[in-house]
Amino acid sequence: MRGVGRNPGSTALSLRLRLIGLVALVFAASLALGGTLACLNASRSVEAEMHSALAVARQTVALGIAGLDRSDDKRRDLERLVASFRGNRHLGVSLSGEDSAETAPQRDALALAAAPRWFERLIGVKPSRVVIPVAAGGSDYGAITLETVPHNEILEIWNEFGDSLLLLALFSAPTMLLIYVFIGRALRPLDRLARGLARIGGGDYAVRLEERLPPELSRLHDSFNRMAAQLAGMATENRGLTEQLLSLQEQERSELARDLHDEIGPFLFAINVDAAAIARQAESGRLPAIAAPAAAIGEAAAHLQQQVKSMLGRLRPIGLAEFGLGAAIANLIEFWRRRHPEIDFGLEIAPEAEGRGELIDTTIYRIVQECLSNALRHGQPSAIAIALCHRRGEGDGRDGLVLTVRDDGSGMSARPGAGYGLLGMGERVKALGGSLAVTSDPGAGLLVTALLPLPARERAEAL
Ligand SMILES: Nc1ncnc2c1ncn2[C@@H]1O[C@H](COP(=O)(O)OP(=O)(O)OP(=O)(O)O)[C@@H](O)[C@H]1O
Ligand SMILES: [Mg+2]
Repeated sequence: MRGVGRNPGSTALSLRLRLIGLVALVFAASLALGGTLACLNASRSVEAEMHSALAVARQTVALGIAGLDRSDDKRRDLERLVASFRGNRHLGVSLSGEDSAETAPQRDALALAAAPRWFERLIGVKPSRVVIPVAAGGSDYGAITLETVPHNEILEIWNEFGDSLLLLALFSAPTMLLIYVFIGRALRPLDRLARGLARIGGGDYAVRLEERLPPELSRLHDSFNRMAAQLAGMATENRGLTEQLLSLQEQERSELARDLHDEIGPFLFAINVDAAAIARQAESGRLPAIAAPAAAIGEAAAHLQQQVKSMLGRLRPIGLAEFGLGAAIANLIEFWRRRHPEIDFGLEIAPEAEGRGELIDTTIYRIVQECLSNALRHGQPSAIAIALCHRRGEGDGRDGLVLTVRDDGSGMSARPGAGYGLLGMGERVKALGGSLAVTSDPGAGLLVTALLPLPARERAEAL
């Protein structure tokens, strides 16, 4: 990015941490869910394992006992049968009886290690015991007790759990690290964007994003650059308008100064001269000669009154507040009619279009004022028609006023002058949310149409 200073964004970092936290949470949740499912499965599998070990052992013992009938030494064979279970990881087998002292060992060597008690409780498989009485050749040889030992199986599962956990840790640690680094890189463009926005906030509209962003953010990139370009354009336009405003003010002041000088100055001088003449005639006692300069003073004063009124009219529309829009425009027309009696001025104002507030009235007045002066300065028309009507809400439901000023002069030339009049009209109308259209018919005149929407309250009244 061009022209952007370093300003590391803390927002991106916190978002990054939040994202990584979310990933860790998902890992932990899947671990908890996986662990629960694995425990349930492990419990079922230990249960099944114990069950089948017990069933096989029962079958073996039953066969062994059945074979005792053919044995010469039943006690010895019985002990061998029990001894054959030595080393079985899932079963403890013991022989008991009145004259029997020997029992098979219940646990094998693996049983030395143990899973934590809480894990054994979690798996929840309890040892089960079966006692098989032994009778052969009419004698009672006691009973063989088979007892399942889930301990070893649970230990095995515990060890597998440990391995899986280690594997998961080995997998998730680099994954989280990768995600952390990746998110950091992915958020970098947003950081640049934030710095760009900060520059724009500071009034530097020349800033642009130049590096391409990932496809997901490319619209942001384009929108940012478009926004910056538009702001730059608007800033230039604003500067231009301010300059125009200042130069218009200057122009207005110099026109007033010229009018004061040209129109007021000579008449004040004339009054002064006439007053001196009256004084001289009075001193020399020629009273009848006073009448002429006195009449001249009266005429000069009347002319001055007229001039002052006209200048005030330019500064503030005469009678707009006091007599209403219609009277003020009629006054304006009168002003021009005196200077151009050959032109036919027409004025039509719908009664419901009047009195729509000072802002709307002044806007309409200024547009008419500029249109009249444009038509007279540039068009040499023989007729000018002004119409103001009220339009009821149509498609968009908004009521409004429609002002048209039509002249039958030359129309706009192929190379119109670059003044501020039309521009100013457009700005005034835009400020009220309306629109302005200028339609020129070369050789046949010009039509200016201004659409001014009425505020909601005004619309309600107009219904
Ligand atoms: N009624 C009209 N008939 C013919 N040409 C017109 C008419 N109105 C405007 N124009 C043309 O459009 C140009 C722009 O008008 P605009 O009012 O913006 O500026 P201007 O009258 O030249 O100067 P300014 O209003 O700033 O004193 C005029 O210079 C003129 O060429
Ligand atoms: Mg003009």
